[in-house]
Amino acid sequence: MAQPHTITHAFWTVVGEGAIGLLSAARLHLAGYPVQLHRRTAGPFDFVFQSAVSSQSLSLPSQIQQPYSSILLPVKAYAVLDAVKQLLPLLSDNAQLVLSHNGMGTIEQLLPLLKPEQGLWFLSTSHGAFKPDHSTVVHSGLGQSVLGALNQAALAQQQSVEQAMQAALGPLVVMADIWPALWQKLAVNAVINPLTALHQCKNGELSNSKYAAAVELLIEEFVLVAKAAGQDFSIEAIQNRVTQVIRQTADNYSSMQQDFAKGRRNELDYITGFLLKQAEQHQLQLPAHQAIYQLLLQKSPR
Ligand code: PAF
Repeated sequence: MAQPHTITHAFWTVVGEGAIGLLSAARLHLAGYPVQLHRRTAGPFDFVFQSAVSSQSLSLPSQIQQPYSSILLPVKAYAVLDAVKQLLPLLSDNAQLVLSHNGMGTIEQLLPLLKPEQGLWFLSTSHGAFKPDHSTVVHSGLGQSVLGALNQAALAQQQSVEQAMQAALGPLVVMADIWPALWQKLAVNAVINPLTALHQCKNGELSNSKYAAAVELLIEEFVLVAKAAGQDFSIEAIQNRVTQVIRQTADNYSSMQQDFAKGRRNELDYITGFLLKQAEQHQLQLPAHQAIYQLLLQKSPR
């Protein structure tokens, strides 16, 4: 007699207590996945998960199961390397690690640290979430996500990671080559984030004609360096995408604007700084990105 088909869900570990992390952990839990948090303090984490349809009190365990086999790491780019170094001794030999952050430059740092069977993924999401207080997460904007494998070992467990990320941050588009999507997201972040941080304005302000020349220069220079790095975009395609995001997020303050407003550490080195490093490698000058980098560096917390 045929055995009933049972789906066994992998045990997921979500790192940190950020808004996207808690949103993902809540959605994984509600979809039937066993899930724990990895955070500074052990013990259960109680929080309220508010979405457009409901408000639920959840309690998720922290650090109860090791080794970690499936890990979602939605932490800021500047914190990724240290976080992964701390996690390495806790990972199974075939662990699957999913990164999700703004900016670039972390993947190259991490790949050499992993064992041959440990998979690395990148997920880029447009879901909106925020924490009005320490123990509440609000799913403020329905979005979607793109996911891509970054090494061969990831492909060995493709189905299980894709299914879980669909539950956590779907609808999901899985890309055989995630790099063009990462560069396109970088373009958006390299225009909107530094300008809104410098002028301390909402994203929508950037559609004002007084910013048109700066936006145009940043886009032109982005296209130049992306091409040298093997990513061929037209100026028009990037303009359209940047304009679309400015329009769609007109009422939002960008993550970098908020970091500067609150005097917090920021992602400048992984956005504009990453572009400048790429430009240097390809012997290119990016005067507009260089100028905004210097201006923001002076305002960055030491
Ligand atoms: O960093 C951000 O705030 C976001 O990635 C974006 C798309 C710029 C919207 O604010």
